[in-house]
Amino acid sequence: MPDISDYDKLNYDYSRYWQERLYENLAEKNLLNKLFENDKGNWFLDVGGSYGRITSTYYNSYKNPVILDYSLNTLIKNKEIIKNRYPKVTLIAANAYRMPFKESSFEGGLMVRVLHHIEKPEEYFKEAKRVFKKDAKYVQEFPNKVHIKAKIEALFRKDFEFFSEEPYKQPIGKNLEGSKKEEGGIFFNYHPSYIKSLLEKNSFVIERKFGCSFLRSQTIKKFLGTDLMVFIEKILQKTLSWTNIPPSIFFETTLQKKEIREETEQSSDLKDILACPSCKGELSFEKEGYAECKKCNLKFFKKDDIWDFRIE
Ligand SMILES: C[S@@+](CC[C@H](N)C(=O)[O-])C[C@H]1O[C@@H](n2cnc3c(N)ncnc32)[C@H](O)[C@@H]1O
Ligand SMILES: [Zn+2]
Repeated sequence: MPDISDYDKLNYDYSRYWQERLYENLAEKNLLNKLFENDKGNWFLDVGGSYGRITSTYYNSYKNPVILDYSLNTLIKNKEIIKNRYPKVTLIAANAYRMPFKESSFEGGLMVRVLHHIEKPEEYFKEAKRVFKKDAKYVQEFPNKVHIKAKIEALFRKDFEFFSEEPYKQPIGKNLEGSKKEEGGIFFNYHPSYIKSLLEKNSFVIERKFGCSFLRSQTIKKFLGTDLMVFIEKILQKTLSWTNIPPSIFFETTLQKKEIREETEQSSDLKDILACPSCKGELSFEKEGYAECKKCNLKFFKKDDIWDFRIE
């Protein structure tokens, strides 16, 4: 199993990261609002959703949103706030590589600011293909390896290998988002063509590409206020999303797979979509407080009313 950026081991409070990033936060949320505003669906999956920063963007369009995250501590710490603001949300601790859901459970979903922690995106996309339904809308964000600043820096270094489609592993310590110099962490930047081909290989058809956070720069922030930056960002998202200039890229996709499961009226009961994250077998909920896999006998417990399905 690939390594995981375990925020609980790093003791990392992700909500603090956003306190000084109002522009980036609004740039992403405005884009996601636009992508989900006209959707109507049942189960929705926010993979690596943490404390629910972007839940407002899909909450009103889907009946049953799920936030899945490997950091059980983050979910426990933020449970009250999330549940007060978004009562329909279910919180689940699990590993994105091995999700505790039955085949074809979700009609919509996204992953934002998590793929840099996923060192084997092809394995993750395979698992995502399994849990999403045919025709599901899935939005994938990733940090763009070849954004304009990185390209210029590579040219100055005369580092021509940088321009290949191979993932770029950022040195730990430079970026604090879920990585610590002393304790490690995983931080990759990806080439847009590389992610595009992996998504397509797994039947996610790319409908639209969007660039985001075009103005991410401390110097620009010093001169322009947030409102003006957000206004310019909207124009840049409309006109320059076809380029690889910005540091963050969103692919809006539709999953075009053959449906194996028969289409039935989908229930709103979480137990109807849960499965063993290890062998994908059926779970028994007969005993109070835990679920047991009928096939491999693994047991999964609830902590503070949050299912813990984490396996590596
Ligand atoms: C930088 S945060 C992004 C949170 C949220 N998506 C957002 O945009 O605000 C990355 C999150 O991904 C989670 N994560 C990292 N690797 C994971 C994995 N293998 N499975 C599930 N969650 C993971 C971390 O616990 C963390 O909460
Ligand atoms: Zn099992």
